[in-house]
Amino acid sequence: MNRIPVMRPTIGREEADAAAEAIASGWVAQGPRVREFERAFAERVGSGDAIALSSCTAALHIALELVGAGPGDDVIVPSLSFIATANAVRCVGANPVFADVELETQNLSVASVGERLTPRTKAVILVHQAGVPAEVEAMHDFLDPLGIAIVEDAACAIGSTYRSAPVGTHSGHIAFSFHPRKLLTTGEGGMLAVACGDSARRGRRLREHGMSVGTAERSDAGEVIVESYLEPGFNYRMTDIQAAVGLVQLERLEGIVARRRERAQRYQELLAAIPGLRTIADPPYGTTNFQSFWVLLPDECPASPVDVLGQLLDAGVSGRRGIMAAHLEPAYAHHPHGPLPVTEKLATRSLILPLHDELDDAAQDRVVDVLGAAVTSGAIG
Ligand SMILES: Cc1ncc(COP(=O)(O)O)c(C=O)c1O
Repeated sequence: MNRIPVMRPTIGREEADAAAEAIASGWVAQGPRVREFERAFAERVGSGDAIALSSCTAALHIALELVGAGPGDDVIVPSLSFIATANAVRCVGANPVFADVELETQNLSVASVGERLTPRTKAVILVHQAGVPAEVEAMHDFLDPLGIAIVEDAACAIGSTYRSAPVGTHSGHIAFSFHPRKLLTTGEGGMLAVACGDSARRGRRLREHGMSVGTAERSDAGEVIVESYLEPGFNYRMTDIQAAVGLVQLERLEGIVARRRERAQRYQELLAAIPGLRTIADPPYGTTNFQSFWVLLPDECPASPVDVLGQLLDAGVSGRRGIMAAHLEPAYAHHPHGPLPVTEKLATRSLILPLHDELDDAAQDRVVDVLGAAVTSGAIG
């Protein structure tokens, strides 16, 4: 019996050819394809500009630098997120403050952020968890008058929409990931969508050690340009090989999202037969790309997610635990935080089912059958 993987990138011959072309061109580090990818990406998500980076973590770090967060500042984040969200706050020397999330969307709400505001709050990282769009306009209405910046963590949300526009258009700084667990992959990689020219200029500079001129621009200049280093920065560059892959992936994106949404709807229909099981769903104001198809076990189910994952594995199905909570990990065990009841419920009672292009009806039926048996019998594996 073939193991059903939890995720499989939709990537193939065209990406391999594009990468080979980049290598043959001699531009194997950051070069013209990176700029082309940035332009195409900004156009796709409707942002003013976009800065290609080595990861979404790098994009979050740069975004926090751009909004001026630093030592002595609080930055509110959901604990319920991949740990990179909290770690990015530590990159600028600020203090991550964990706020709770909503059960339905797994995202921060105005109320949960309001509970954690302090006079030191400089920014909020608003995560679109598992691709479910967060209520970004309500958050702007609340935080803009207070002068608190919003950085959107859209690591998982390429192709999701908020009020009919792509996630990527609603804030000044929006970070995306191209890790293979995401819909669009460049192997590793990330993008920071920005609204204004100042952020674009300084963000590009920070990406390259604070250099006054980018490598590709210097090479194109046709005259001698001696660069200077205007401020301390980082090496967060993307390579042209990655960008070549990303350009092909962008072309595929619409089809990938459509296929995932079709498969997700089939899951939702089949899983409705399991009493009390909650699944990821579109919020009333937007559409999700279903980057991760999470389910929350019913309260009365005696089996834990680890038990259920074990039974799925025995049946040849790879699942994953649900979204993690940073405050439950050793890295943040001693970090002070207020009550986070919804976060703890989601982190300890949910799991992620396989979802990818090649998941056919038979495979999906197998997943649903095993899950149904595990939940209703409560059998401990
Ligand atoms: C919500 C969230 N933020 C940030 C990241 C970090 O992305 P990257 O691995 O590209 O740094 C991830 C990765 O899974 C994520 O899920």
